[in-house]
Parts: sequence; structure tokens; C-alpha cells
Amino acid sequence: MTPDTRDKPAFELPGIVPWGRRLGEYSAFFALGDPMDFGPVLDIGAGPSSFAAEAHALGAPVVAADPLYRLSAGEIAHRFDETVDAMRAAMRRAAYRFNWAHYGSEENVLRLRREALALFTADYEAGRREGRYVEAALPVLPFADGTYRLALVSHLLFLYGDRLDFRFHLTSLRELLRVAEEVRVFPLLNLDGLPSSHLPGVMTALRAEGHGAELVEVPFEFQRGATRMLRLRRG
Ligand SMILES: C[S@@+](CC[C@H](N)C(=O)[O-])C[C@H]1O[C@@H](n2cnc3c(N)ncnc32)[C@H](O)[C@@H]1O
Repeated sequence: MTPDTRDKPAFELPGIVPWGRRLGEYSAFFALGDPMDFGPVLDIGAGPSSFAAEAHALGAPVVAADPLYRLSAGEIAHRFDETVDAMRAAMRRAAYRFNWAHYGSEENVLRLRREALALFTADYEAGRREGRYVEAALPVLPFADGTYRLALVSHLLFLYGDRLDFRFHLTSLRELLRVAEEVRVFPLLNLDGLPSSHLPGVMTALRAEGHGAELVEVPFEFQRGATRMLRLRRG
């Protein structure tokens, strides 16, 4: 039977969930090369991702920022636990929306999320003292102009485009281009699996301001059709 998505989005979540991905996944989302070549990187909206922890272990300079970082590791882990059932249910309900070639199964996705959380929590308190985990929220960041070579936005902008409006997207991306030379964003579909309505306007506005804005194919697909990232370069 074809699922009926007319009345209710099949992938419905209780807010912006603290769900974190691993370095290998980020490398695919953003077509990243050797972590040692990253230059200073900002992971904004990093949540309980282990990208910063894994990069740090490899000697690569990554700062993770998120409003969640006002909380302790235990409190973040508790928030994660609270969302597991909703995520599992949403993935099951919307299984047809995903390409399972990469992860294989829902259980593998959950295993990776738990691995990321464990790596994140093991690194978090020391990393916070060292300034590698910073409490910050778009659209205003507490970093000086040009602090980072690259800023990454994974599973926040565009994906949550129903909760975050066009102005929030544009202001946030301008702010990221202030603090970083280059910005990459993935995915570009919303939670309904449709191209974000904010994307064309954001690209047009940033190009008009002299910035580079292009869509780049990446070697990854989970949400069906989410195979491109947005790459912005400061003009
Ligand atoms: C779905 S998680 C993605 C985590 C990580 N980027 C990843 O892909 O594994 C979204 C994160 O965005 C954070 N977030 C929500 N509003 C934000 C804002 N205004 N600025 C920065 N991060 C925000 C949430 O706290 C949450 O940790």
C-alpha cells in the first residue's frame, strides 16, 4: 500500500532532536578529505555528534558549538535517551523515505547514534574546559571574524525548515560566512523529504551579496534524494 502523506508528515519529530553522527558520516555528508587538512573547523549545531571528539583524537582542530552545551554530558545523554523511541518510530513509519544501502537497518542507525553519543560524552567535559565545546546558538555566534576555515552544518538548517524560517536561515548563513571562509550544509531536504523551500532564496540572496553558492554532489544518500550539500564561500 502506498503510504498516505497528504495529511500528516510521515517523519515527525518532537522538536530539534539531539541526535549525533560519527566522523565517517560527516566525511561523507561534506565530502571531506583527510581530517589533518581541515584547518580550523566549526561544527555548529553539533549536539551529541562525535565528529569533534574523533577529529581531536586524530589531531585535527575542530570546535563544536550548540545551545545544548549549557548542559552536562549526563543531561545531554538523558535528552538523547528521551528521543530514541520517537526516532525509532519515525524511521519505521517513514522507512520508504530512506535509502538503506548505507546503513543497512534501523538497528545499525541506532548503534551508530549510540557510538557517537559515547565518544562525545567521553570527550565532552575535557573538551569544554579546552574550549572545544562552546555553548552558542545561531543566528549570532561568539566568534571573531574569520576564526575558521570551514563551518559545517549537519541536520539543522533546511532539514528543520518548518520550524526555522527563511530569515533565520539567511541570517545564520551570513553569520557563518562572517566566522568562516567556507560553509557546508547537509542535508538540503526538509523532514518531509522535500527540497527545502528556503534554499533557492538563500542562494540568490548570498550570491547577490558577492558570496559563492553552489550545490555539490556527495557520496552519501539516506533521505532519498538528499545527495547534495550546499557549499558557500565568502566573497
Ligand atoms: C539533529 S541535531 C544534529 C547534530 C549534529 N549536527 C549531527 O548531524 O549529528 C541538531 C542540533 O542542532 C542544535 N540546535 C538547535 N537550534 C540551534 C541553533 N539556533 N543554533 C545552533 N544549534 C542549534 C540542537 O541542539 C541539536 O543538537
